[in-house]
Amino acid sequence: MAQSTMVENPLLVGLPEEKRPEPFALVIFGAHGDLTKRKLLPALYALYVQDLLPESFAILGTSRTQMSDDQFRDAMRESVSKYSEDIELEKASWDSFAKSLFYRAGDSTDLDAYKLLSKTLDELKSSRGTMGNHIFYLSTSPSLYVPIITRLAESGLAFKRKINEPAWPRVVVEKPFGHNLSSSIELDSILHDALREHQIYRIDHYLGKETVQNIMCFRFANSIFEPIWTREFVDHIQITGAETIGVEERGPYYEEAGASRDMIQNHLMQLVALVAMEPPISLDPESTRDERVKVLKAIRPFDPDTIDDFAVRGQYGEGFVLGNRVKRYRDEDRVSPESNTDTFAALKLFIDNWRWAGVPFYLRSGKRLAKRVTEIAIQFRKPPQKLFEEMGGAALRLAKSENPNVLVMRIQPDDGISLRFATKQPGPTTQIRALTMDFRYGTAFGSRTPSAYERLILDSLIGDPSLFARSDFVEASWRLIDPLLEHWSKTMPGKSSRHGTQLNHRPFPNYESGSWGPAESHELLALCGHEWREL
Ligand code: BG6
Repeated sequence: MAQSTMVENPLLVGLPEEKRPEPFALVIFGAHGDLTKRKLLPALYALYVQDLLPESFAILGTSRTQMSDDQFRDAMRESVSKYSEDIELEKASWDSFAKSLFYRAGDSTDLDAYKLLSKTLDELKSSRGTMGNHIFYLSTSPSLYVPIITRLAESGLAFKRKINEPAWPRVVVEKPFGHNLSSSIELDSILHDALREHQIYRIDHYLGKETVQNIMCFRFANSIFEPIWTREFVDHIQITGAETIGVEERGPYYEEAGASRDMIQNHLMQLVALVAMEPPISLDPESTRDERVKVLKAIRPFDPDTIDDFAVRGQYGEGFVLGNRVKRYRDEDRVSPESNTDTFAALKLFIDNWRWAGVPFYLRSGKRLAKRVTEIAIQFRKPPQKLFEEMGGAALRLAKSENPNVLVMRIQPDDGISLRFATKQPGPTTQIRALTMDFRYGTAFGSRTPSAYERLILDSLIGDPSLFARSDFVEASWRLIDPLLEHWSKTMPGKSSRHGTQLNHRPFPNYESGSWGPAESHELLALCGHEWREL
């Protein structure tokens, strides 16, 4: 433990013993990669200094790069001091944490590498008291997932754990879980050949964000919102995941993914599920995951004949973002100059169930947009009587909100919740203004917000899969998105497959960097008489 103390750790108050991690050895494949440096090690160090790791543990990095334990420790020290957001690297705690760091070079496709890992893990079991509990973190290129899982199984390091078997193996997989429906099913079957579902932790880091976890608390720990969280009161819902960054160093990955696979298929779908799900019967992992899956299964599939009225794609051209001139996507490093990859996608979805029938869910996500903002906006219906139209209608329209009641859950930045409503402006006449009641996490709680990776790594060590994507969720999401990807792969941007309303009418690039995406995305909402919120 980081600090031995007689005082109970306040972060653990209320957490039952079995909810604290047992001794473990964590093997990180891709230990020389970006994710390990930027996210995993800073999160593990933060857990350590908060005394959330058990007394006995080991972290074993592996990748092709030759390094000694000490070189690995030095490299990780540098990463933690560079990338830790709000926990300072402190010499004494680092020195004691670093004693648990080890490294073995190896080719993860070669069975011999696993013999070395196995031998090292045996040694760590006696030298570090890890009790043979092994968690394998796949922080590699997705093309290595299948070989690694296969070799883990062949070498006996991964196996289906029987009830009451003392030691456990678990595997943590980063998204993307496959490239489409068929490859995700294949990956899943390889995972399930080696392990049981409860040993598999598919990371969607959005689920680890505090503000995302709060969606369920907000909805189900209060009684005032749920009765109006229905088609009778909600006009439509907008989910935005906007980024100002471009593809940075990830050209080759992004060329294959695009916004639809990178953000929509996973992160935004999880947000849809959380905002639309029914209350679970309990907070046990399966009940909550059951409810999230049900939402996806109720989403109306895309009809190939009308798909262009329900989905829009875009790609950024050059422009200015936050005052800086930026290049177009096609000029990014290791991106094809003729690329037709989507860097923006917007969808209109309907959830055909009792609660949401007829309520459009609009989703948009893109890179190089005007502002970094992730939010869910619940737009409520207009009042049934236009009582104030005469007097205040103009003022309300000026406020761009004839329909003033919107509840916004801001995921990032400036996380919080706001509710907008119409009020009377003081004065002798009745002038209506829309105002906002605002709750901000930053000011409401004085404490630090743990990173998504801290929470998710901790949960995977504890063995709580609630905040991880279950196999049926991943499959349901691909089932939904696959026909769209298929359609887009067959039609060039700018060409619609049908007559009538054609939203995808301009070739790429079709939006300027620093804008809110292609004009077609606004038309997507205009078809239903709606407009995107101005953020
Ligand atoms: C990742 C995507 O999963 O999420 C990135 O691969 C994206 O392209 C990132 O930038 C966004 O995460 P966040 O936490 O910054 O919203």
